[in-house]
Amino acid sequence: MHSPQTVSNIRALTASLFGVAAGTLGLESFPGFIFYFIGTAIVSGLIYALKAESDPEAYFFRPLADLWAGDMFVLEARLEQANLLKKVVDAIKDLVQDCNFDCNDSGIALQAMDNSHVALVSMMLKSESFSPYRCDRNIALGINLTSLQKVLRCAQSEDILTLKAEDAPDVVNMVFESSDSDRISEYDIKLMDIDQEHLGIPDTEYAATIAMPSSEFQKICRDLTGLSESVAIECTKEGVKFACNGDIGSGAVTLRSHTDIEKPDKNIEINLSEPVALTFSLKYLVNFCKASGLSDQVKLCLSNEVPLLVEYALSNNSYLRFYLAPKIGDEE
Ligand SMILES: *[C@@H]1O[C@H](CO)[C@@H](O)[C@H](O)[C@H]1NC(C)=O
Ligand SMILES: *[C@@H]1O[C@H](CO)[C@@H](O)[C@H](O)[C@H]1NC(C)=O
Ligand SMILES: *[C@@H]1O[C@H](CO)[C@@H](O)[C@H](O)[C@H]1NC(C)=O
Ligand SMILES: *[C@@H]1O[C@H](CO)[C@@H](O)[C@H](O)[C@H]1NC(C)=O
Repeated sequence: MHSPQTVSNIRALTASLFGVAAGTLGLESFPGFIFYFIGTAIVSGLIYALKAESDPEAYFFRPLADLWAGDMFVLEARLEQANLLKKVVDAIKDLVQDCNFDCNDSGIALQAMDNSHVALVSMMLKSESFSPYRCDRNIALGINLTSLQKVLRCAQSEDILTLKAEDAPDVVNMVFESSDSDRISEYDIKLMDIDQEHLGIPDTEYAATIAMPSSEFQKICRDLTGLSESVAIECTKEGVKFACNGDIGSGAVTLRSHTDIEKPDKNIEINLSEPVALTFSLKYLVNFCKASGLSDQVKLCLSNEVPLLVEYALSNNSYLRFYLAPKIGDEE
């Protein structure tokens, strides 16, 4: 480390050197002063850079963040796993191209319909999923998900993500910190104005709710896609049956309630108040299953003539939900 004494010695020395140089060059007092001033400024810069090199965090990062930018942000949300947001974006990106991230005191919410208005995505990242979380004012961050995905791909799997935005922001700032090294990367994503109505989703008492391993649901949807474009989901007290009928033939997978204390991830739990049978587009279900990596279990909620709810629960009461309108009549 350079002691303050050394630094002031360097300053005094250079001051006289530049003073002498100004004199020998025969500059008049005012230009001479400027010459001296520029000279010392260069030296200050060099000292700063040299000192910073020995301890960049202390001299560079903190002053920049704390003194000049610290209090401008109305949103600051630190997510232990940047990967979580990356998985969410990967899961919804093919359904929704751009959307508002609505931030308020209770967390960050996103709600958007797909272009054909058949499916709805609803994400809630509760403030408890972040530590710390601060949102002083309600703000909407209109983000192009392609751009967000590009930036999130720059993160390493263990990185910590901090989201920051100013009041009435033009950009959202994302900082990735590596948990095991001193690597810090910082990105700004330009925001856009998105006119999006927030739909009130009614709280529904579903006739059937099925919790099952998300990998199982993904396999069923993928397998049946090979045969048909749609699947009939039928829930009775016997179990839940996924059936399809296509050009090459037909197929059906039936699951029954299953409890394994050793491996609770593999449990299948069916709650039924009345039998339900509905038909859905497999293309959308396969798309929803991209969220399988977010949660070991998925919950399907069905009622006749109501959109299907597919829910991936995240820790701390956060969630990613998909709603899908049933196919009507014999469209199949
Ligand atoms: C924050 O936003 C969510 C989702 O939009 C909403 O349900 C909640 O009521 C809001 N909370 C506050 C305190 O405004
Ligand atoms: C949930 O909240 C707790 C307490 O803030 C935190 O320790 C934990 O990391 C959070 N879980 C996730 C996945 O964010
Ligand atoms: C989002 O960004 C991509 C490229 O980054 C662009 O092709 C696409 O048109 C943008 N979408 C919207 C809705 O602006
Ligand atoms: C089924 O009902 C029980 C009791 O109400 C509840 O604890 C459980 O979470 C429900 N399961 C599903 C899959 O909704």
